[in-house]
Amino acid sequence: MVLKNAHILLGVTGGIAAYKSVELLRLLKKAGANVHVAMTRAALEFVGKTTFEVLSENPVLTDLWKGPQSSVTHIDIATSVDAALVAPATANFIGKLASGIADDALLTTLLAVTSPVMICPSMNTDMYQNIRVQRNLDILEQDGIHIIDPDAGVLACKTVGTGRLPEPWFILDRLCAVLTPKDLLGKKVLITAGPTLEAIDPVRYVSNHSSGKMGYAIARAAEKRGAIVTLVSGPVSLDPPVEVEFIPVQSCDEMARAVFSHLDLADIIIKVAAVADYKPVAPGVLKIKKRQNSKELSISMTENMDILKQVGKLKTKDQFLVGFAAETNDLEQHALLKMEKKNLDMIAANLVGTADSGFKTDTNKVTLFLKDGSSKDIPLMDKEKVAHILLDTIIEQTG
Ligand code: PMT
Repeated sequence: MVLKNAHILLGVTGGIAAYKSVELLRLLKKAGANVHVAMTRAALEFVGKTTFEVLSENPVLTDLWKGPQSSVTHIDIATSVDAALVAPATANFIGKLASGIADDALLTTLLAVTSPVMICPSMNTDMYQNIRVQRNLDILEQDGIHIIDPDAGVLACKTVGTGRLPEPWFILDRLCAVLTPKDLLGKKVLITAGPTLEAIDPVRYVSNHSSGKMGYAIARAAEKRGAIVTLVSGPVSLDPPVEVEFIPVQSCDEMARAVFSHLDLADIIIKVAAVADYKPVAPGVLKIKKRQNSKELSISMTENMDILKQVGKLKTKDQFLVGFAAETNDLEQHALLKMEKKNLDMIAANLVGTADSGFKTDTNKVTLFLKDGSSKDIPLMDKEKVAHILLDTIIEQTG
C-alpha cells in the first residue's frame, strides 16, 4: 500500500546479483511505485541499461555528464524520492558511501537524498566478513542507513556462505516496512491465526477451512507499523511473517498455552484463529481401523477451552482485546453477543461461506463493532487493507 505512487530511487551496483534487481524493479512497478534507476559503470557490465529503462518507464541515470538529462537531474531525483534502495550493494560502493565519496551518478545522487536509504550488501563471504567492509557497514548503520543483511547459500564464486542478495519479495517487504509510519512503535501485539487441529487418531483430525491469511495480514501490518508482534499460528501453508515472533501450534490446548504464556506482556490481543469448539474425548493411540460390521462411526467430542473468553476474564484495563466472529447468518446479533460474553473491546465480524469473503480468500468484508456501541463497515477489500483499517481503529480507541 505504501508503495502506491511512491517515488523510489533504485541503485544498482556491479555485482552478479544485479540480475535480481530487474525482478525487484518489476515488483516495485507492480506495487504502483514510480521508479528511477541509477546504475554504476560496473553494473552495466552485468545487466543492460535498456532493460531497466523499459521496465521503469524512466531514463536510467548512469553518468552525470552524458545523456539526455540536464546536469541537475540527479538533484531533482534525490529531492523527489520517498526512499532510495541500492540492491545489490558492492563492497566498493559501501566503502565509498561510508566515506561520503561522490565519484559517480549513483553516489552523487545518494548524497543529496534526505529520505530513507536502504542498501542490500551482496558479495563473496570473505569480502563481506572483511573487517573493513563490516566497519563501513557499521558507519552507515550509525548514519541511519537501513541495511538488509545478505542471505547465506551457494554464491556465484561456488563457495557456500553469507553474501547472497535476499529474494526481491523480501527486499520489497523491508522497503515497505521502512516507509510505513510507526504508529504502533514498541506496542506488544499478540495475534492468533489459522485453524486448530484436534486429533481423532495419529492420522486423522477435526479442523476447519482457515488459511491464516487474515491473521497473518494483521501480523505483517502491525510489524510494519513498529509493533513487537507475536503470532501464534495453527497449521497453515503460509510463510511466517518477517521479523515476527512465530509460535506454531496444532491444537486448541497448545494454542491456549502459547497465548497465556505471552498474555501478561501484550498491549493488544487479536484473536483471529478459528479454534475448534470441540475435540475428540479420547483420541486413538493407534489408527482407528475400518469396521467390517458397521457402516457408522461415532466419535465422542468434548468442549475445548474458549481461549478468548478466558483472556477476556484475565485482561487488565490497559490491554485491548479484539475477537473475530465468523458467522453464516445474523452477523450483527451473534457478534454483539460474543463481544459481551467474552468481555471484548472490539469484535471483527465477517460472513463465512461466501465466495470472496471469510475463509481462504484474499479479500474480506468485515464490520467492526466497538464496546461503546459504534460500528464501522469495511467493504470488500484485500485482507492486507482490512488489517490496516482494523489497526487504525485500535489506535483510535487506545489513543
Ligand atoms: O484464515 P482465513 O482463511 O484468512 O479466514 C479468516 C477467518 C474467517 C478465520 C477470520 O476472519 C475469522 O473470522 N476468525 C474467527 C473464526 C472463529 O473461530 O470465529 P468464532 O465465531 O467461532 O469464534 C469467536 C472468537 O472466539 C474468535 O476470535 C476465536 O478465535 C475465539 N475462540 C473460539 C473458540 C475457542 N475455543 N477459543 C477461542 O478463542
